[in-house]
Amino acid sequence: IEDRFPALIRDDSPSRRVGAAPLGAFAKVTHAVPMLSLGNLFERVEVGEFAAGIRRFLKLADDHPLALVVEPKIDGLSVSLRYESGRLVQAATRGDGREGEDVTANIRTLAAVPEHLTPDGPAGEALPSVVEIRGEVYMTRDAFLDLNQRQAEAGGKTFANPRNAAAGSLRQKDAAITAGRPLTLFAYGWGEVVGADFPTQSAFLEQVRAWGLPVNPETRLCVDIAQVLAAYDDIGARRAALTYDIDGLVYKVDRVDWQRRLGFVSRAPRWATAHKFPAEQARTVVQAIRVQVGRTGALTPVADLAPVTVGGVVVSRATLHNEDEIRRKDVREGDTVVIQRAGDVIPQVVSVVVEQRPEDAAPFAFPERCPACGSEAPRPEGEAVRRCSGGLICPAQAVERLKHFVSRDAFDIEGLGAKAVEAFHQDGLIRAPTDIFRLEARDRESLRRLKNRDGWGETSAANLFRAIDARRVISLERFIYALGIRQVGQATARLLAQHYGTLQTLREAMAAAQDETSAAYEHLVNINDVGASVARDLLDFFHEPHNREVLDALAAVITVEPFEAPAVGDGESPLAGKTVVFTGTLETLSRAEAKARAQALGARVAGSVSKKTDYLVIGADAGSKAAKARDLGVAVLSEDDFRGMAG
Ligand code: IVH
Repeated sequence: IEDRFPALIRDDSPSRRVGAAPLGAFAKVTHAVPMLSLGNLFERVEVGEFAAGIRRFLKLADDHPLALVVEPKIDGLSVSLRYESGRLVQAATRGDGREGEDVTANIRTLAAVPEHLTPDGPAGEALPSVVEIRGEVYMTRDAFLDLNQRQAEAGGKTFANPRNAAAGSLRQKDAAITAGRPLTLFAYGWGEVVGADFPTQSAFLEQVRAWGLPVNPETRLCVDIAQVLAAYDDIGARRAALTYDIDGLVYKVDRVDWQRRLGFVSRAPRWATAHKFPAEQARTVVQAIRVQVGRTGALTPVADLAPVTVGGVVVSRATLHNEDEIRRKDVREGDTVVIQRAGDVIPQVVSVVVEQRPEDAAPFAFPERCPACGSEAPRPEGEAVRRCSGGLICPAQAVERLKHFVSRDAFDIEGLGAKAVEAFHQDGLIRAPTDIFRLEARDRESLRRLKNRDGWGETSAANLFRAIDARRVISLERFIYALGIRQVGQATARLLAQHYGTLQTLREAMAAAQDETSAAYEHLVNINDVGASVARDLLDFFHEPHNREVLDALAAVITVEPFEAPAVGDGESPLAGKTVVFTGTLETLSRAEAKARAQALGARVAGSVSKKTDYLVIGADAGSKAAKARDLGVAVLSEDDFRGMAG
């Protein structure tokens, strides 16, 4: 019928579930609510600390009940399924958390994902106008082995583990291929919701199950840490018997009002964490020990290994951390070693199997000069790390800085990964950040070289230029992070962006703050969480003439957008853009929660009162700050006033 009357084809037609026309590329989807990641715990004691931290933040008594939902951490890939009035309208991958890829056609082929949510109750209660359900797409171990066998027989590509198989199967341009792959899903969270309200995580999971999506049957609600640890032991013991891979458990605060109050630190929630299972270990031989130079000059020893499979992944390299670690473990070239791999962390060398040491194996002599540029690499008193002193002349540091510059949380240039950066640097095509944005416009010769390079053709070069062009406008926080200043990670970059607003203001402030007796310096170290040590690294960076030249040169090829305070609620918060200082003990809020709330509403939180302070919030036993605020005419708020303003 659809062939004869195409106008009758509906988006939810069964004919669209399989064999939708192959796509050229996946369209980008901006997540209405970002898809975040999780912090990790490895030790049992950390579980108690996790709960204690939550109680402290929420100002709950030590014996106040704190129910946690325990869910297996499925080793697959996360997706967001958008249902409007109960109908599946879009499915997207996580991507970088802000923006993912549209995999709607592929997801429609999963039997586990209903086209329509089942309404509750006999009367068919209304479904929410919008609900984004988040979950993990995975493949069972059996299905994975089966698929690999079929692939091998057909002379096709095989996969290293179920996770890779799931990812490769979902991201097929032709949804008919996805349809032939046994993918399934467990739902565990939500994004944008309009017209529904979940009081607890456990109520949410129950609702989702009633709507017709699979929820992991191992999920349980625990009322104390003893129960949480018992769940960890129990599920851990049965891990191998499960039909799918899990790499740990996820603990989530059950109460959603508490989740909201707890909020997030950079990209991970304070209200949830992952408790990883012990790392998997394997034995292999150290073929060579190399010393790598990081972006800040740190020398890191790395072991090149005879490839070995650990936890479903082939490992051929492990970190040896630093000079002392190598000496303590006495790792030598030729040694047989025990290595381990836990989650996404870099594999580590645990110990040496001394009985198997070759007779001629010599202790490793750690270099005192940089292996890349030959500069001295001193080890400052009391530090574990040797650092190359070559600074700007060291090519290894330059490459690492470039890699960081284009990395996912910085400029995020698609197609310009670590390998490409290394090759382009070696060819002289990209030596400084600005070169990236001049690539296309530069001489025909470099273009010809790029196109002649292995694996680079007309199309990939054009794609790269397009990806670069797409990043000529960047937010101030990403830009600051991209600079790769020591101790300035994403969180600090965001604070600086928020406090200074524009790149111009930041640069002027850094110039003025070089004088440590200036008001500008005072302001810098007063930014909450920026202390004297971070300030020193920032000032050194902005003092270095070469860095200033790079900043000037970049200004000619890109646009750095001023910081935009996040929109909260309907109207602008009275705290947005204001500088707030807290002093004394608050009654109903912990200091951490008060600060987080103010920041979420777009306020800058500072450590001490100055002329720039807009509000001083005073709790009990406020000290000298109150007097200083009065002298300077700064508005003083009680805790109640603050709560009112913060909504
Ligand atoms: S909750 C803000 N629950 O783990 C909360 N994640 O390391 C974010 N994952 O990207 C995620 N099982 O792909 C959550 N039961 C579970 C999960 C789970 C697997 C994955 C998910 C996420 C990653 C974070």
